[in-house]
Amino acid sequence: MACAGGHNFDIARQGYLNLLTGHGTKFVPDTAAMVSARDAFLDAGHYKPLSEALAELVGALLAEPALPSPKLIVDAGTGTGHYLHQVLAACSPGSPGARRPAAVGLDISKFALRRAARRNPEAVNIVWDLWRELPLGTAVADVVLVIFAPRNASEFARILKPGGSLVVVTPLPQHLAEIAAEAGMLGIQADKESALTASLASHFVPTGSREVVATLQLSPADVGHVALMGPAGHHLDPEQLAERLARLPKLTTATAAFRISVFHPLPETSRVS
Ligand SMILES: C[S@@+](CC[C@H](N)C(=O)[O-])C[C@H]1O[C@@H](n2cnc3c(N)ncnc32)[C@H](O)[C@@H]1O
Repeated sequence: MACAGGHNFDIARQGYLNLLTGHGTKFVPDTAAMVSARDAFLDAGHYKPLSEALAELVGALLAEPALPSPKLIVDAGTGTGHYLHQVLAACSPGSPGARRPAAVGLDISKFALRRAARRNPEAVNIVWDLWRELPLGTAVADVVLVIFAPRNASEFARILKPGGSLVVVTPLPQHLAEIAAEAGMLGIQADKESALTASLASHFVPTGSREVVATLQLSPADVGHVALMGPAGHHLDPEQLAERLARLPKLTTATAAFRISVFHPLPETSRVS
């Protein structure tokens, strides 16, 4: 792949593009073990109600008549590409001639992107740090998805078309509370909705939100995957985790609880830099 400035970048044989050359980044990317745990847990379908709700919502947002074609979805912090895959599959047009939206997946972890590139070969999957200027043009995206990933308000507003949407998924305070101790998970911050709106207020206005709540039946292995797939996966002691998992019953009931929030970018003149 080449840029207008004459720089060339090789596409890795696994299908992703690493633009984080040179200085790299100060952030610690998810490890191969964390990514593998997330893939196993999501593939088991535990968060299917969330992917279904997202697919339906993004389909409706893309159908917004004011948005010019071609359509582009950017999945910021795409991870293994699980949710982007579900969203793209649901966008498969029934009518001949209609086009599937283009998609870009961004993530700092090359281990995650290897899987994302396999799962979503039609998307452009790029290793990138979301806290930097994004490697995308201005006003090119119809939907930016941010599912449990960092939120760079000014850059998301810049890449969205006027009338485009930022879709943010955050956990509710009760999310997986039943297994937080067993899985050694970091606590979930209370009152996330107002904090989220405040953190984006310089560039976005909220337009709606909905909650998705589901009851899960988790095996000890599932609980282990949950423990490893989140930020706590960087710090967990494998022996301590194994001991805790050994004490669990065959199935543990837990609640998955998410909020999906939708925002529109403020007009450029109203943004606070
Ligand atoms: C909790 S995971 C969520 C992944 C995916 N959205 C999902 O829900 O399956 C957070 C993701 O954000 C990525 N991430 C964290 N910090 C990042 C950064 N500064 N730039 C790009 N990606 C980042 C991680 O590598 C990880 O894949």
